[in-house]
Amino acid sequence: MNKVLVSASVLSADFLHLAEDVNKVITAGTDQLHLDVMDGHFVPNLSFGVPVIGALAKMGLSTPLDAHFMVNNPMDYLDLCVKSKVDIMTIHAEVCPHLHRCLGAIRQAGLKAGVAFNPGTSVETLAYVKDLVDFVLIMSVNPGFSGQKFINSALDKIALVRKMLGSEVRIGVDGGVTPQTAPLCVQAGADVLIAATAIFGKDDYSEAIRAIRG
Ligand code: DX5
Ligand code: ZN
Repeated sequence: MNKVLVSASVLSADFLHLAEDVNKVITAGTDQLHLDVMDGHFVPNLSFGVPVIGALAKMGLSTPLDAHFMVNNPMDYLDLCVKSKVDIMTIHAEVCPHLHRCLGAIRQAGLKAGVAFNPGTSVETLAYVKDLVDFVLIMSVNPGFSGQKFINSALDKIALVRKMLGSEVRIGVDGGVTPQTAPLCVQAGADVLIAATAIFGKDDYSEAIRAIRG
């Protein structure tokens, strides 16, 4: 089993003091920075775009940037992701009729390729793209907003993906991850715990990350 990583979701960071808050969460021990890009079409919300990720990259962080694209046309942003030093580019299966081609293109550009699945989406397609995937993101809320309640059926889905893909591929869980739900996710086979509210909503980020890690 891979070491379990915590990826702090910047969606709930203090946007007025983003650099300070990001430095604070890195000092507190987050393993990755999870960056939620939303377009107001695929999900009913807007967040920030790749320029903000590029600005963070210019800070010269050594913490990997894990970009989660909740947009209808994620491949339009591949070149910008390369320029902005994104490490993992995750796209949603629901918007990619040519998932095989898209994941291959992300890898060919030198990034790690991730594929995300909404709570109502089947993961069967993974069987046909598994050689092109570095990261599978199981949504445990309907994406668009932080602070939502964990959907329990995500646990069965994580276990199914772990069985399908073995131990090599990292499996992340995103939405409603707290010190209570995190151990259930790890038990099911997740090894990347993504959290916004359970970290940025607390006064002590180190303590919050420790509590999620378990
Ligand atoms: C939801 C985003 C998540 C979100 C998680 O659409 O993809 O990354 O920030 O927020 P919490 O941890 O508060 O559920
Ligand atoms: Zn996310």
